[in-house]
Amino acid sequence: MGQFTDLDRWITASGNRDTFLRDLSEWRRIPAVSAESAHRDDVRAAAGRLAALAKEYGFTGARLLETGGHPAVYAERIVDPRLPTVLIYGHYDVQPAGDAALWHSDPFTPVQQRGRLVGRGTLDDGQLLMHLQALRAHLQTHGSFPVNLKLIAEGEEEIGSPNFEKLVRRNARLLAADTVVVSDTTMLKRGVPSMSISLRGLVYFEMTVDGPDHELHSGEAGGAVENVLNATSAIQSALMDPFTKEVKVPGFYDGVVVTPEMRESLRRLPISARELKRSFGNVPGLIGATPAETLERVAFRPTMEFNGLAGGYQGEGAKTIIPSRAVLKFSTRLVAGQDPAKISAAVIKHVQDTARKLPGVRVHVRELSRGAPVAIDPTHPAVQAAAQSMKEVFGKDVAFTGEGGSIPPVTVMQDVLGAPAVLIGMGLPDGRMHGPDENIPISQLQKGVRVLARFYERVGQQISTKQRSGTALG
Ligand code: BES
Ligand code: MN
Ligand code: MN
Repeated sequence: MGQFTDLDRWITASGNRDTFLRDLSEWRRIPAVSAESAHRDDVRAAAGRLAALAKEYGFTGARLLETGGHPAVYAERIVDPRLPTVLIYGHYDVQPAGDAALWHSDPFTPVQQRGRLVGRGTLDDGQLLMHLQALRAHLQTHGSFPVNLKLIAEGEEEIGSPNFEKLVRRNARLLAADTVVVSDTTMLKRGVPSMSISLRGLVYFEMTVDGPDHELHSGEAGGAVENVLNATSAIQSALMDPFTKEVKVPGFYDGVVVTPEMRESLRRLPISARELKRSFGNVPGLIGATPAETLERVAFRPTMEFNGLAGGYQGEGAKTIIPSRAVLKFSTRLVAGQDPAKISAAVIKHVQDTARKLPGVRVHVRELSRGAPVAIDPTHPAVQAAAQSMKEVFGKDVAFTGEGGSIPPVTVMQDVLGAPAVLIGMGLPDGRMHGPDENIPISQLQKGVRVLARFYERVGQQISTKQRSGTALG
């Protein structure tokens, strides 16, 4: 195992830690909510502040790249063309705070509580700033950095990255790199270092069901007209068996493979049913007979989720009506082997086919957004460099896992730039991503900076693909 290095000493020095936490907290006071147009200027301000921080921490250049939507931030520090180039991807936008009453502190005033930094965007994706601190640590300790560094931070990740692929294609030269590194995921649990080698993809849908053009008296009309809420629940049941959770869309599971090795890797993970229940918000029970089965359903299997349902009487007491309209938001999470475009078409067709059996209502369904799953080769040298670095900092072997969340831009970069990705995430499962009291332990941030400082050192010693192909040596 590695010993405490001069880098570790710089990173753990209380003054350096506090400056970092202060910069992170001040940045996160800007409510960079990409989904809400009222926050458009805040989003841009957060981008500008990130560019300024990047320069302060050692990037030599930083600027905004316009996208037509929220801008992206690009920064670089090119050390030597013969060295490998690492592209950091992250996002500076955040999810809406949600119901402020559910927070124990102001969502946009990060506070330190019981060793955690609490506030919207501290975890998702405040982790991005760990890379800035790792850069600064190297420069302050050694006066140099071991690789060429580029950074692309998006302001639209939380709304499905609608402009990202175009941005990457247009700037493929600028963003060219040997490896992409992303710190926007979580570890299995505290003290157990793990790295994700898969993330799920996503297709999101919206369905409206229209019946009578106004609400009807349920006594007068009940039995005579189709009820939009009944139609909605019929379509939901046709999409997914509500008891087994099996998705009934024809062809949905085509290409899905879970091997005995994948199952075995989950069985080996040191996590109990109690721990899982707690990390999923203290639910009374989980789907799956064992933790490994539950984890398999999140990490390696596709699902359908109903995200929101509106319609009918929602007020106080009873009101005897037949509603005129219902709206359902739903999404599928996809795994490697599934094609989001095909899934989208199959789901839409299945809804329409089902709707034909309910001729008393008009059903409209459309796709809102889509993103591809992520697959990572754990034998890739950069992934191994990350695993080795984590092992040194945490003092334990790294477990490779899959996570159920989605970061579709990772696949865009792998495909367009041809650069394999590494996910080095330091969040914990109880970090309440997207929820109230979102948080990340300060110790995880600090360990993350130490992991990244080592990671860059290791990658710097690896041979860049440019050298292998001879182009950079001339
Ligand atoms: N950081 C998350 C993705 C994530 C969540 C990774 C949990 C690992 C574990 C990311 O910011 C996110 O929320 N992604 C969205 C993507 C969507 C808006 C296209 C998601 O997963 O819902
Ligand atoms: Mn994120
Ligand atoms: Mn998110």
